[in-house]
Formats: sequence, C-alpha cells, structure tokens
Amino acid sequence: MNRNFFEVLYAGTEDPWELETSDYEARKYALTLAALPRHRYRSGFEPGCSVGVLTARLAERCEHLEAWEPIERPRLRCRERVSAAGLTERVTVTGEELDPDAAFPAADLIVLSEVLYYLPEKKLGPTLQRLFAAAQPGADIVAVHWRSRDEGMEMTGDEAHAELRDPRHGLQLLGGWREEEYVIDVFRLPERT
Ligand SMILES: C[S@@+](CC[C@H](N)C(=O)[O-])C[C@H]1O[C@@H](n2cnc3c(N)ncnc32)[C@H](O)[C@@H]1O
Repeated sequence: MNRNFFEVLYAGTEDPWELETSDYEARKYALTLAALPRHRYRSGFEPGCSVGVLTARLAERCEHLEAWEPIERPRLRCRERVSAAGLTERVTVTGEELDPDAAFPAADLIVLSEVLYYLPEKKLGPTLQRLFAAAQPGADIVAVHWRSRDEGMEMTGDEAHAELRDPRHGLQLLGGWREEEYVIDVFRLPERT
C-alpha cells in the first residue's frame, strides 16, 4: 500500500472521509449491512477498517470479526469504538495489510469496503486469490466501492469490481446495488464439492 499517502492524510485529520458524521456514509453503511445475505456469521473479516464505524455494526452480526487497519491513528480509534460498544471480546483489530502474502483468516463473511482500489493493480488479482483460498467454502463476500478514482487510488471502483467478477475467481454473483457514485456487489464462494 502507499503507506505515506495514508499517514499524511490521517496526520491532518482523524477521520478524512467523515465516516463518523456524513449522511452519505451512513446511508451507504445501511445498504451494505442490508446486503449481507445471512443474518449471522461465525467469522467476519474487514480489511481496511479505518476508524471502525462499519466494524462496530458488522460485529453485531458476527460471533467474531477480524478487522485490519495498517495506519495507527485510525486503528486506535477503531479499538476505542469497539471497546465503547462493549464488543472487545468479539472483535480483533490488528495492523495487517491486504497483500498477496498476508495471513488471511478462514472467514465466512468478507466485507471489502472502499479498500480494493488502493492496492497496486498487479497485486489485486493475486491478493483476492489468496483471500478466497483461505476463506470458508460458501463464504459471503460483500464489496462496496466509490465508482470513480481519486487521489491515492490505483484504479476506479468499477475496475476493482470488474476484477471481483472475473470468472477465474469463481464467485457466484448473488446481487447488488448500483448508484451514480458507488457500487455494492454481493458474491458467494462455491461450497466445497
Ligand atoms: C476509505 S477508508 C475505508 C474505511 C472503511 N473500510 C469504510 O468503508 O468505512 C480506506 C482505509 O483502507 C486502508 N488501507 C489502504 N490500503 C490498505 C491495504 N492494502 N490493506 C489494508 N488496509 C488498507 C487505509 O488506511 C484506510 O483507512
């Protein structure tokens, strides 16, 4: 990841995308949570969790949630939020980074919210392959991304979702939601045969 870009951004403000306060984000989170195909999950995974607004909501649907945030300032804020919500025992927040060599959890829910377009283009496919290989058979994957490209991004959200839809990943597309600004896609990994 372009660590320096995020370090500078978070040094200027704790919540650069106003995830805690914006009506736009609140509605997008509500749609994302409504899109989860199952009500309860055993083991959720949310890489790139930032200050943890979605994390705390996802934790209500998961027996255990693993959240990754490589930058310290938002990671500490995420931990504070999880603790204030009384969810510390159900949520693990670490500083790991989405990367092909990462130690991915055996999740039955993976939420990829506004994170994939920060990966270098050549790393996206291999990272997803390793992520899906580690996940539980039949796991649900919910991806939500702003459709355009902005500073720090290596591709548009539409390009990131085109990669997720690539048949070589073998995901079943269950449904989705598309607006002018962002896209939500809901996938399922095949059950083991
Ligand atoms: C736009 S924020 C999204 C926050 C959260 N997922 C949400 O939707 O509310 C992107 C976050 O992803 C993190 N990030 C960027 N590249 C990453 C990577 N390779 N692995 C894990 N996190 C990453 C950044 O530090 C930043 O906090």
